[in-house]
Amino acid sequence: MRMRNLFMLFLFFCFLPCVFAWSTHPAQVDALRAVKKALVDPKHYLENWSKGDPCISNWTGVWCYDTVGFDGFYHVRELQLLNMNLSGTLAPELGKLSHLEVLDFMWNQINGSIPKEIGNLSSLKILVLNGNLLSGSLPYELGFLSNMSRLQLDQNNLSGTIPKTFANMKNMEHFHLDNNSFSGQLPSELSQLKNLVHLLLDNNNFSGNLPSQFYALSKLEILQLDNNHFDGAEIPESYQNLSSLVKLSLRNCSLGGTLPDFSQMPFITYIDMSWNMLTGSIPSNKLSANITTIDLSNNKLDGLIPESFSYLPSLQMLSLANNSLNGSVPASIWHNKSLSGNARLSIDLQYNLLSDISGDLNSPQNVNIRLQGNPLCNNAKIRKIRHFCDSNGGGNWTNDGSTYPVDCPATACPLDQYYELIPQAPTCFCAVPIRIGYRLKSPSFTYFPPYISDFESYVTSALNMELYQIFIDSYAWEEGPRLRMDLKIFPNTFNNSHSFNESEVHRIRHMYTTWQFPRSELFGPYELLNFTLLGPYISVNTGKGGISKVLLVSILVGVVVCAVVVSVAITLFISRKKNSYRRLSRRFLSKHMSIKIAGIKDFTYNEMSQASNDFDCSAQVGEGGYGNVYKGTLADGTVVAIKRAKEDSRQGMHEFLTEIHLLSRLHHRNLVALVGYCCENDEQMLVYEFMPNGTLEDWLSGKSEKILGYSTRLHIALGAASGVLYLHREANPPIFHRDIKASNILLDSHLIAKVADFGISCLAPVLDDEGDTSQYLFTGVKGTPGYIDPEYFLTQNLTDKSDVYSLGVVFLELITGVPPISHGKNLVREVNLALKSGPLLDIVDKRMKGYSCDNVERFIALTMRCCEEKPEMRPSMLDVVRELENILKIDPESTIMSDSISLQSTCTSTTQSTCRPDTILKTVSDIRVLKSQNFRHGSDTV
Ligand SMILES: *[C@@H]1O[C@H](CO)[C@@H](O)[C@H](O)[C@H]1NC(C)=O
Ligand SMILES: *[C@@H]1O[C@H](CO)[C@@H](O)[C@H](O)[C@H]1NC(C)=O
Ligand SMILES: *[C@@H]1O[C@H](CO)[C@@H](O)[C@H](O)[C@H]1NC(C)=O
Ligand SMILES: *[C@@H]1O[C@H](CO)[C@@H](O)[C@H](O)[C@H]1NC(C)=O
Ligand SMILES: *[C@@H]1O[C@H](CO)[C@@H](O)[C@H](O)[C@H]1NC(C)=O
Repeated sequence: MRMRNLFMLFLFFCFLPCVFAWSTHPAQVDALRAVKKALVDPKHYLENWSKGDPCISNWTGVWCYDTVGFDGFYHVRELQLLNMNLSGTLAPELGKLSHLEVLDFMWNQINGSIPKEIGNLSSLKILVLNGNLLSGSLPYELGFLSNMSRLQLDQNNLSGTIPKTFANMKNMEHFHLDNNSFSGQLPSELSQLKNLVHLLLDNNNFSGNLPSQFYALSKLEILQLDNNHFDGAEIPESYQNLSSLVKLSLRNCSLGGTLPDFSQMPFITYIDMSWNMLTGSIPSNKLSANITTIDLSNNKLDGLIPESFSYLPSLQMLSLANNSLNGSVPASIWHNKSLSGNARLSIDLQYNLLSDISGDLNSPQNVNIRLQGNPLCNNAKIRKIRHFCDSNGGGNWTNDGSTYPVDCPATACPLDQYYELIPQAPTCFCAVPIRIGYRLKSPSFTYFPPYISDFESYVTSALNMELYQIFIDSYAWEEGPRLRMDLKIFPNTFNNSHSFNESEVHRIRHMYTTWQFPRSELFGPYELLNFTLLGPYISVNTGKGGISKVLLVSILVGVVVCAVVVSVAITLFISRKKNSYRRLSRRFLSKHMSIKIAGIKDFTYNEMSQASNDFDCSAQVGEGGYGNVYKGTLADGTVVAIKRAKEDSRQGMHEFLTEIHLLSRLHHRNLVALVGYCCENDEQMLVYEFMPNGTLEDWLSGKSEKILGYSTRLHIALGAASGVLYLHREANPPIFHRDIKASNILLDSHLIAKVADFGISCLAPVLDDEGDTSQYLFTGVKGTPGYIDPEYFLTQNLTDKSDVYSLGVVFLELITGVPPISHGKNLVREVNLALKSGPLLDIVDKRMKGYSCDNVERFIALTMRCCEEKPEMRPSMLDVVRELENILKIDPESTIMSDSISLQSTCTSTTQSTCRPDTILKTVSDIRVLKSQNFRHGSDTV
């Protein structure tokens, strides 16, 4: 003991320099502290920022480079504090996180202005502060950030103009300033941002003109300027040379002049120029075949509707309403469309001067045409044929047809709320999804269903997943128009894992938070609104409180460095204690493994040791093949049973944690509840609720002074059967207990039976306590002699009926008070013989009180059926439960005799053997026939 402490102290000093030398750069630690100080954190997300080192102790939202820098320190690479209800301000010290690449505070309530010191972060690539309450103007210093590729400051209260220095951000691809109060002229210098792909400046107060130099933005795909005030400015003709343009959205911009010619834009897909003051006619040059949306409504356009609007196979929306267009409507717009499946086309030509329709008046399904407010609606013929002139327009939508067939029984999922059927999985499979709040900021379509499957494959292929792993739970259009979605991402069914592991969660999250998805012209930029994983996931932490790989590496290096010293120390001082050294060093180096499961605690070795008084003999309450069981008292006073695996019962950590994961989902009043576990220092322990009344075996063997009455025994039988039934029917995958026995049925303070030791299939002892009978054993057969199903024993074929047999043996113990094997004799065989030769009640436990003969007969009959040699002759566990319920129901209190009365009236106990002689002298087979009739009757009425 003293040696051990000495040694630990020694090791501690060995590691100390290593751990301390490899830490986060002090200036960055100070900077982070200042950042936290300036923030208000009502939900305490940043609680762990007050202890340890940012990079080594995994501070929330802090991500560091994997290796130390040349200066021997770790550096912060990413600061990601999205959607954490943070308010307060951004500290100027952010500028001291010199190696930062990603700074992400989106979706909080941070106010104040953007500190100009952020301009010092020369490595910064991603700055996302969208969705806050930031005000003030843009510091021109941000323009120094030449590595910046994504600047999202949208949805704040920022004002002022865009500094001309921003032209220096040569790597800028995504520039989002939408939904703020910016004003003034757009700087023509932005045309130097040659890599710009998305320019979103909508919903501001920009004015002046549209810089003609923007034509030089040769990679620009989206130009979105809606809701600004360019008083009468014209769209520069040079914009026709924006040859990469996919989406041009200039809605409500007070633009004048004429429409540009879109025929030079081979990729143009979405055009919105509505609510302007555009004049002239619509150019009739051929448009890109990919066009989905053309909205030119609410302008002052005149002339004819061009034929170029026909033959656009992907068209979903064409609105020319509220203009002064004249002539006739070419019906070819809605013909020759492949409006198959879930495509739709909406054509709005209301309030123009259109006088006629040329061509076939009939329109295909899924086309909606509105012509109200045109002279042609005076034409009775047109009005009659279609509903074109109604306010709703003609044509009907058919159903989306986008429901996903699910052929799985509801019971396929565990009752645990976190698990869900994977809707599109190839087989019935339940798993815990990651939920992602997601929004397409500027999609290039107006109707989603035709693109849903494209979207799903876009996301899953980027994430390197199978198509079924994504599910769009819901979607809705929001102002913008933006497309809001709730996504669920499920784990792969391949490796049969029902939840993501931690590295996978981090990978997926990182993909989203650093926008690593390939760019999609159709779907445009996205916003991550939230990222939630409610349920458990398997985490392979290398330390409690988040000791990272880094620390482990430090420790390993420390060990190498100190190895010589250590070995000298060992030889000199503790050579006699080789064993304890080995255990100790292993303890130091072994990982602490944990999984996060709601309601299941992850205990440290120390907590376990303290609870059980260092696993003292006096705390030991049981012993089995798996290991010893200790009674323990946790720090909060809870009394628990700690099951500590013996060295040879331990399994791989991963199997152990998987098993815990499985056990944690089982909840039933007749199962002993798992409270937590400990997986540290090579130890594996399971922590259960403590059962003050011990095992059923204790009670029946006379260890406990008190005697169980008949009614209590019946309730125990029913409880045990209900617990096992739950394992058979509700657990997923179903669990066969394999080791039902009186010592595995525990009694709580109200003598309610709770089944223990379930599920630990791999942990289950090959043989339990009665080790001397091991000659019965086949390798592979698990269970306890006397309880093992003879069929399973012979064939090694385990079924639910094997548990029925074992439970039958327990019932027999309840009836007779005799253990399954005593004096070398098998209880089942003995009872069978006794029932053939003598009166039924001869076998009943003489100590037991309070039974009526009818009732105990039925219980015996059920028990003997459970103990049939052939599995097919045994009832199912469900039948057992039902029959026990019937036995308890059919015999109300009046026939369950109180102790004294029963002895005198119905059962003449003095002669021991005569209980209504006319009916009780039955052989087992008689009873069987009689009871199987009752049995069937009983089941039918349930
Ligand atoms: C701008 O952002 C605010 C806050 O997120 C939101 O309430 C508002 O609807 C947005 N306005 C527009 C036009 O998108
Ligand atoms: C646009 O491109 C055409 C040829 O593709 C060229 O003649 C014209 O000068 C360009 N316009 C501008 C404003 O550069
Ligand atoms: C049309 O869209 C498809 C896929 O969305 C794309 O592969 C194709 O290149 C596009 N064609 C044009 C002319 O933009
Ligand atoms: C046409 O203009 C009227 C009046 O400005 C407006 O109420 C209506 O919404 C417009 N129709 C369409 C389809 O934009
Ligand atoms: C996590 O899960 C992924 C995908 O299922 C797998 O490829 C990876 O090996 C797992 N990682 C660990 C540490 O188990």
